[in-house]
Amino acid sequence: MKVKENFMEWENLGIALITGASSGIGAEFAHQLAAQGFDLVLVARRKNKLDTLSKELQEKFLVNAEVFVANLSNMDDNEKVVAKILEIDNLDVLINNAGFGITNTFLQIDLKRHIDMINVHFTSTVMFCHAALPGMIKRKRGVIINTSSTAAIHRSPMSVMYTTTKSAVTVFSELIKERIKGKGIYIQSLCPGFTYSEFHDTESMQGFQRNWFPKENWMNAEDVVSLSLDAVKNGEVIFIPGELNMQYTKSLRRKSMDNYLNAKIL
Ligand SMILES: NC(=O)c1ccc[n+]([C@@H]2O[C@H](COP(=O)([O-])OP(=O)(O)OC[C@H]3O[C@@H](n4cnc5c(N)ncnc54)[C@H](OP(=O)(O)O)[C@@H]3O)[C@@H](O)[C@H]2O)c1
Repeated sequence: MKVKENFMEWENLGIALITGASSGIGAEFAHQLAAQGFDLVLVARRKNKLDTLSKELQEKFLVNAEVFVANLSNMDDNEKVVAKILEIDNLDVLINNAGFGITNTFLQIDLKRHIDMINVHFTSTVMFCHAALPGMIKRKRGVIINTSSTAAIHRSPMSVMYTTTKSAVTVFSELIKERIKGKGIYIQSLCPGFTYSEFHDTESMQGFQRNWFPKENWMNAEDVVSLSLDAVKNGEVIFIPGELNMQYTKSLRRKSMDNYLNAKIL
């Protein structure tokens, strides 16, 4: 059953397609958008997780939630998602959210894994925006949220490819917005800080411990997503959820900006 007004105050809700919907922030977007009455297309690799989520949301909110299994590091699968987007004639919301981290250093990581990260974080985001925007522009409505990271803003050199791909996602979102001004489309580059999810439990994050960082630096996915959706209508592209994240990220950015201005880049 629909329990909340939708975040855009739209009539006749269409479909929200969410990548990385099988856990964490993506699954939370699925919950909150289903609660608002959107039908969903849930994209990720783990079919069992998507099936369970789809069943839960359909029963709880009486929406349609289609499962679409795809590995976004694989270009054939990305093409299949593009074809899916092109066949939807009422795509209201696109959430490009799939992602992963890696604790190893640049040269310890196989080149193939770097390319996987580029494809999951950036190539798929570009492909899905390219597919979704013409329909949204025609319908004069649409929301795109590209999940990036505070790493894209403060540009810590700790994780080279993660920071690079997330920076690309944020810059892409900023520049795309300029190209579609006045067409009724909202674009947000969501830049979360540390968030409780499965992100830090995956194999490639082995060795990372949450208690390296104080509890107050962590947010839950529910707050990240509700703050993100609430912020869409203010029209700012870059959105950092949480006051602490905002302050911390800004101060680090100031430091790296000094390096840029003095041409002492990282
Ligand atoms: N958690 C944090 O602290 C944090 C901070 C800043 C930014 N973020 C960003 O937030 C986004 C969501 O992460 P999360 O925290 O919710 O982590 P999560 O719980 O690990 O969720 C990641 C999602 O991405 C999907 N995914 C990963 N690789 C994929 C691939 N090759 N193909 C398709 N889907 C793939 C996963 O699904 P399958 O495994 O089923 O494919 C999962 O649904 C990511 O882009 C991440 O970079 C997270």
